[in-house]
Parts: sequence; structure tokens; C-alpha cells
Amino acid sequence: MSAIAFRLNGEMRSIATPAETRLSEILRDQYLQTATKVACGIGRCGACTVMMNGQAVNACLVMAWQIEGADIVSPEGLGAFETARIVKAALIEENAFQCGYCAPGFLMALTVLFLSNRQAGEPEILSALEGNLCRCTGYHSILRGALSAAN
Ligand code: FES
Repeated sequence: MSAIAFRLNGEMRSIATPAETRLSEILRDQYLQTATKVACGIGRCGACTVMMNGQAVNACLVMAWQIEGADIVSPEGLGAFETARIVKAALIEENAFQCGYCAPGFLMALTVLFLSNRQAGEPEILSALEGNLCRCTGYHSILRGALSAAN
């Protein structure tokens, strides 16, 4: 078991863990980044979405060996991004969530989208969110918030 070095929310980290440890476990258990939710654990729901090297990924599908040298942003790190603050405010304005369990994943997916395309429209938003499931809202309020954030 060798140490794996990576950046988490702007800080260098080093962890000795089995290579097959999931990033979601590392974030939650080792670094107490519990806004990274785990629901399905098999890459289907998006609750565990984090940013890795600028891309949205399911942390439950990323193994420890894959994060060597990577730049990881967990939901706790999104406060450093003006784009995330705009998206969050728009989602709150639209009462986008009910139980909130999926919210960090949606916020992460939308932030990653708008960081790469600030003018994203409905097709791009729907595409960016196709890996995120919500069991409460029916998605309309989330989409309204996303569209509001885009404008
Ligand atoms: Fe990772 Fe569902 S917990 S996609």
C-alpha cells in the first residue's frame, strides 16, 4: 500500500489506502467531506458527483489509484467558485430541492457545466444532468434554477 498524492479543494493531500478504495469513501471517511453523498454506489444516481481535473465524475466509481496527481473538488470546495455560488443561489430561489440528498451532485454537475460553458442552454443543461437523479421534485424546479443561473 503506497501513498497516493492528490489535491483536494486546493490543498495537497497524501493518503495510504488500498488502490481499490473508492474516492467517495476517501472523501467521506478520511476527509469528512460528507456532502459527497452515496446512494446507489454503482454510478447510476449522481449523488456522489465531484469535480476531478475539471470534469464531473461519480466518486463511487473512481478508485484510489486513479486520483494520483489529480485535482479534486468536493461539494465543500465549491464555495471557492463564483459560478457555484450563482448556481446555488438560483437553485435556492427556485426551491429546487426537497429532501436535498441529491443537491450536492446537481450543484456540482451544473457548476462543472457552467465553468466550461457559461452560456449553456436547456439542451446542454439536460445533457449535463442526465446522470443525476432526484426522487422528490420532478426536475422542473431544478431546470428552472439552472436556466436562471445561465442568464
Ligand atoms: Fe455514485 Fe450513485 S452513489 S452514482
